[in-house]
Amino acid sequence: MKHLLVKVALVVALLALGVAGACAQDDAAALYKSKCQVCHGPDGKGSAAGQKLGVRDFHSPEVAKMSDTELFEITKKGKEKMPAYDKKLTDDQIKSLVKYIRALK
Ligand code: HEC
Repeated sequence: MKHLLVKVALVVALLALGVAGACAQDDAAALYKSKCQVCHGPDGKGSAAGQKLGVRDFHSPEVAKMSDTELFEITKKGKEKMPAYDKKLTDDQIKSLVKYIRALK
């Protein structure tokens, strides 16, 4: 009986984690679409407007070389024409956006 309870608790915990994980990704996708896509484009290559401002393709070797921390800091504090998001996004949101950017195809 005890074993069964432990198993049920485990399954519930795993399901909760899965749902939370999926939400974080959905959240990042929605945030990216509403706040970043205008300049960085749906695929991270940079929109026409973004390219005028000097965005780099997120797939370029320059960006691949940057650490997640650097990408996090640039999003948080801004850089040149890249706006700062420290007042608009939480650290967790920025972290999930960095993950999202790395996974863009
Ligand atoms: C107004 C246009 C604009 C918007 C909106 C914008 N960016 Fe940027 N972003 C830029 C520009 C321009 C740069 C290049 C900055 C530089 O190094 O000169 C940049 C650079 C970056 C970089 C550093 C890597 C690189 O390509 O140089 C990251 C990471 C980044 N942006 C993430 C984001 C995220 C995440 C959002 C949405 C929350 C966002 N940006 C919204 C214009 C924008």
